Amino acid sequence: MAGDVWAVGAAYEAYVGRWSRPVAAEFVRWLAVPPGARWLDAGCGTGALTGAIFAAAAPALVVGADMSLGFLREPRAGTVLNADAAALPLAADAFGAVVSGLALNFVPHPEQAVTEFARVAAPGATVASYVWDYADGMQLMRWFWDAARAVDPAAAAEDEAVRFPICNPAGLAAAWTAAGLDDVETRPITVPTVFTDFDDYWQPFLGGQGAAPAYLSRLVPNRRWEIRDLLDARLPRRPDGSIALTATAWAIRGRTPG
Ligand SMILES: C[S@@+](CC[C@H](N)C(=O)[O-])C[C@H]1O[C@@H](n2cnc3c(N)ncnc32)[C@H](O)[C@@H]1O
Repeated sequence: MAGDVWAVGAAYEAYVGRWSRPVAAEFVRWLAVPPGARWLDAGCGTGALTGAIFAAAAPALVVGADMSLGFLREPRAGTVLNADAAALPLAADAFGAVVSGLALNFVPHPEQAVTEFARVAAPGATVASYVWDYADGMQLMRWFWDAARAVDPAAAAEDEAVRFPICNPAGLAAAWTAAGLDDVETRPITVPTVFTDFDDYWQPFLGGQGAAPAYLSRLVPNRRWEIRDLLDARLPRRPDGSIALTATAWAIRGRTPG
């Protein structure tokens, strides 16, 4: 049974945070929200997207909302709020930009969260998000789930490509349109994810944070090592032993009417 774990900031950094940051930087550039806006970062986690907003968008304010108290304890600029993205304890029309990075698919009813984003966004505000392309372009996870499924048929039900049907342009656009947002556009954002060696790829999967590491932590050790050995045999290596993959996220932006 799938159960995602979000609690230990340092372990999340090694697994996804280090790749989330360059995606966040490109996403904020693409949004081109004017300086002085009030931003909400829903599912802010350890603050990768919040950091990119402060670095590039000269915000008046960034509020980060997340369910994980452990992640909210990580130091960052801005204000934080322990809240569910699908039931935000925030007034309507309060933000000039409402964004969410790599989090929307983990909300049990993501369409409800997008409706909340639109509610708290002011008229004419940007509502935008990005999620990993689990089915294909998020290669570090794709290699993992393909190996896990080869070793353990039960892994298919936990594969994020199966669990998260919203993580593609059509799924995202349907949620944005249903929330009444206009000028909806999607695009891929791809970043290099280069691992110095196999350990640099594998060790973060043992940190327990996120879907694949949480799945792995529930396996008996022998199964875990079978997956490890299959990945070690399958992953492409460069002559220096490094593993050069890429990670693609699907980004979407829209605007509230008015
Ligand atoms: C993959 S992390 C992304 C964190 C950060 N935005 C980033 O880009 O690195 C997913 C985050 O979504 C949060 N999350 C999951 N369900 C949530 C919900 N219903 N409401 C708010 N946050 C949620 C988790 O606690 C976690 O911090």
